[in-house]
This record gives sequence, C-alpha cells and structure tokens, in this order.
Amino acid sequence: METQSFVLAKRPVGLPDESAFKLKRSSLKDELKDKELNLHGLFYSVDPYMRGRMNDAKSYVEPFILDQPINGGVVARVSESKDPDFKKGDLVLGQLPWATEMIVSSSQVHKINTTEKLASEYLGVLGMTGLTAYFGLLKIGQPKAGETVIISGAAGAVGCVVGQIAKIKGCKVVGIVGTNEKAKLLKNDFHFDETINYNDATDLASLVKQACPDGIDIFYDNVGGVISDAIIPNINFHGRIVLCGQIALYNAKEIPMGPRIQPYLLTRSILMQGFTIGNFSEHFAEGTAALDGWLKEGKLKSSQTIVEGFAELPKALLGLFSGKNIGKMIVKAEN
Ligand SMILES: NC(=O)c1ccc[n+]([C@@H]2O[C@H](COP(=O)([O-])OP(=O)(O)OC[C@H]3O[C@@H](n4cnc5c(N)ncnc54)[C@H](OP(=O)(O)O)[C@@H]3O)[C@@H](O)[C@H]2O)c1
Repeated sequence: METQSFVLAKRPVGLPDESAFKLKRSSLKDELKDKELNLHGLFYSVDPYMRGRMNDAKSYVEPFILDQPINGGVVARVSESKDPDFKKGDLVLGQLPWATEMIVSSSQVHKINTTEKLASEYLGVLGMTGLTAYFGLLKIGQPKAGETVIISGAAGAVGCVVGQIAKIKGCKVVGIVGTNEKAKLLKNDFHFDETINYNDATDLASLVKQACPDGIDIFYDNVGGVISDAIIPNINFHGRIVLCGQIALYNAKEIPMGPRIQPYLLTRSILMQGFTIGNFSEHFAEGTAALDGWLKEGKLKSSQTIVEGFAELPKALLGLFSGKNIGKMIVKAEN
C-alpha cells in the first residue's frame, strides 16, 4: 500500500517556512505482525510546541529527526488489525507520524469511543489542549469567584478553554488577542468580559489597567514577550501566574531581554509556576470527564479551525505563528 508522509527536511533558524518540510512517498509492507495495526489518518493536530522539536535541542520532548516523519497527536481509523482488541473501523488516538497510512504497534494508540464527526475534539477540548487549560487554571491558578483572570493567546486552543472555565468558576475574564474579529468572537460567543487586541494597542499596559480596574489575580500566560511585560505590573498581591506557553519567543534567534520582574513577584507575594501537561498525566481521566460534562451541559463550547487536506499540514502548523487559527488548529485528511 502507498503512503505519503511529511519529514523534517532541515532545522530552521528563526521563523520556518515550508521548505523545512518534505513530502515523501513510500510503500508499506503487505503483512502485519501480531499486535500491529494499519491506520488511515483522519485528523492531525498542529501545535506550537512542534516548533521547539524542529531544533536540535534538549527539552521535555525529543527533537524531530532529520528526514524522518514529523509526529504529533493524530486521530486515525483502523483499516486492518492483528490485535484482537481492535477491529477494522475503530477510531484511535495516539502520538503518530504525519502519514496518510501507517503501520504501528497497537500499544501506541488507544481507542476513542466517538463518531468520526466528533473525533477531532480529542485533539482539542477533550485532548491535550483542553487538559492544559483545565489543569493549568485549576491546579496552578486556583481561581475563586469574583477574581480577575487575564489570558494571553486567548482565542487559541488553550486560551479559549481557559476563559470559559474561568467564567464557569465565576471569575471576570479578560482576553488578549491579535485581531478585532477574535476580540468580538470571545465577547459575543464565549462571554469574555473584556478583550484587548494587542496589534491595535499603542500602550498595551494602560489598556490592561483599564480592562482590569481591580487588578489581576490570575495571569494565564500562553505568549510571553512584550504582552507579559505589559501585564505583570498589574498583578495583585498573592496573584498567580500560570506559565503555560511563550509562543512569542519560539522563533526568536536570541531570547530578548525583558524587564526584571522579580521585584513584582517578591513585593506582592506572586506565585509564578511553569508546567507541562505531562505533569498531570495521572489525573487526565478526571480532567477529560469534567470537560466532557461541561460540553454536554452546554457550559463549554468547542472552537476549531479545520484545514482541509493532508498536504496542508506544514502551512497549518506555520499558521499558528501568524494567528491564522481561532480555537484548535486541526488538519483533516481526505477520507
Ligand atoms: N504547558 C503545556 O503543557 C502546553 C500545552 C499546550 C500548549 N502550550 C502552549 O500554550 C500556548 C497556546 O497553545 P495553543 O495550542 O492554544 O496555540 P493557539 O493559541 O491555538 O495558537 C497560537 C496563537 O498564538 C498567537 N500568537 C502567535 N504568535 C504570537 C506572537 N508572536 N505574539 C502574540 N501572540 C502570538 C496567535 O493568536 P493571535 O492572533 O491572538 O496573536 C495564534 O493563533 C503556546 O505557547 C503553547 O506552546 C503549553
């Protein structure tokens, strides 16, 4: 059987372009071994952390290997199975290669009990990004009713869920975004109290102050850089900074020098804690059940940008760095 896959063609410096990826065609072997599955990819997750994996640098996740397929969260359909626990047509989720067809060990995936129409939610609100929002906000941010929560990258996969959970917890929610369209959507559809378009702001710090007259109790930081610089001086005594992402710096050739923030943390007893979602892996079932419950009750809405076509994977990944998505960016393959 023929397959196509995207491999890492080179290690980019700065903002990558599509020349960092190469489409390869190859054939899969005909016979499966015991416990192997033949899968057809349906939905592929593109995520900002993948940029870090394009570098040859030690991190919490292994770098991609040159000339080898990129891999990430994928929802696939079983086309053939040599494991009695899986049958043709089952939907599975795993950390899988960017390939149209693939043969993998059944231990690399787990079944998801859903329809093909809803399966992409397991890459978003019911998957890694939803869980990141849930545990980052609830375990580190510890929101209390009446508190003010500000979120950078607020219209993205994680940010949009953080804002909605903060509203469920009775907080005032302020979102920082890159376009007026995103700002409007967060207010109208996701019930954020205030939004700020940082691309329209000449003095972001004053707009933050104006949007948060009682100061900030929780800063959920997805972005870093100058946006964080404008927010941190407005954080209240005993505030919490949930350090989730720093996308503004992922393509930086050198880490820029920012203001010294330690005096704010010190004098206001502010907690700043970084995390990666793997820290909470023992509690994923609890998180997924809570998110699923809120979805079913209509308290939480899913938001996705679905890009059609396997060939669009590189463009979709790169689009995250210029704000092309609202909610979770996902690539849908041809059936
Ligand atoms: N700690 C963890 O375990 C964990 C897990 C998942 C994600 N994350 C991190 O959380 C953050 C959000 O991830 P996500 O999956 O939800 O991505 P996302 O927010 O859906 O997509 C990225 C968004 O970031 C904004 N952005 C891109 N470059 C920017 C820049 N230079 N300055 C300001 N904003 C910029 C864009 O929105 P605008 O149009 O609004 O600029 C873009 O749409 C990322 O930093 C990611 O690495 C961390």
